[in-house]
Amino acid sequence: MPTQVLKPSQIGIAAALLRQGECVAFPTETVYGLGANALDEEAIVKIFIAKGRPEDNPLIIHCHNRSQLTDLVTGWSPQAEILMDTFWPGPLTLVLPKKPAVPDIVTGGLATVALRFPSHPVAINLLQAADLPIAAPSANISGRPSPTSAQHVLEDMSGKIAAIVDGGPTGGGVESTVLDCTVFPFRILRPGGITYEELSPLVPVEMGYEPHSDTPRAPGMKYRHYSPNTRVVLITGSKVEGEIERQVKACQAQGEKVALMAFTESATYPDAYILDMGSKTDVNVAASRIYHLLRQGDTLGFDVIIIEGLPEVGIGRTIMDRLRKASDTIVHT
Ligand code: TXA
Ligand code: MG
Repeated sequence: MPTQVLKPSQIGIAAALLRQGECVAFPTETVYGLGANALDEEAIVKIFIAKGRPEDNPLIIHCHNRSQLTDLVTGWSPQAEILMDTFWPGPLTLVLPKKPAVPDIVTGGLATVALRFPSHPVAINLLQAADLPIAAPSANISGRPSPTSAQHVLEDMSGKIAAIVDGGPTGGGVESTVLDCTVFPFRILRPGGITYEELSPLVPVEMGYEPHSDTPRAPGMKYRHYSPNTRVVLITGSKVEGEIERQVKACQAQGEKVALMAFTESATYPDAYILDMGSKTDVNVAASRIYHLLRQGDTLGFDVIIIEGLPEVGIGRTIMDRLRKASDTIVHT
């Protein structure tokens, strides 16, 4: 199937395709999503096939007004309402108890459903025009870095989906925070665009994911995600700079073509191609660039990308979560 590339002004065509049960990729403020009608099981199957996604991994449903929620979930607490009032529209996904109307294929058979209101104007226009709850995972092949431009989506999805709305680069760069609101304190299942530091003054929250999984895993058992084909080495800890130099030299001595993904301030190593994460003084820039830079490993044909780790606070926690999962090797200094 040829994939139509639509302009934001052609949102009516995209909405009609969604209503006909097709998959359409669209920009959000985090990453591009691969959307389909959340209430149409056949349409949802197309998402899983296009991505090669395991069927037990549930999808996020995207809405544009709160009255849509009452068809999808049995209810929510006043604390969850505070978060909706504060962070929607925006990169926060809330997990709530689902109603039977939500097909099991969307939720991987769970009794809960993940919901968010995106803030990207193109996403809002599309959701309004389709007037449907839209299930949308990130629009990458499962395991690859998430797409932050239409070009990235086409690399992975061209010929597999009906259309993409090209709204330019997304801006935020890392996915939404997934927060389980069916337990109290609420649990962060995936760190994302809204940080622990922003949530915790408003409601009690706990980390519900494994933040430091540096321990070597059994070969073949490693969970790899957000990954290019290029080998990825992440350097963490307090002596990152010296270790970067050592690693770059060691890889070059093996004859490998090395890229160094680092902050502008540290990107002074000779002989390594620099994938610039922007200034250390604004890690939001790094957030907006990491997936593009990881994809560059493949498009520019590097053997290895060596990455400068960053402090795990605020959005840095989210970036490091993604970089750890993208890495083949994590060197802690
Ligand atoms: O920013 C985003 O969240 C992007 C844009 C497109 O909205 N979407 C996205 O979707 O990242 P995806 O499918 O790549 O990631 C959804 C995450 C997965 O880790 C999934 O396991 C989790 O949300 N999730 C979905 N439903 C869940 C549920 N009922 N309970 C727990 N986790 C859930
Ligand atoms: Mg994803």
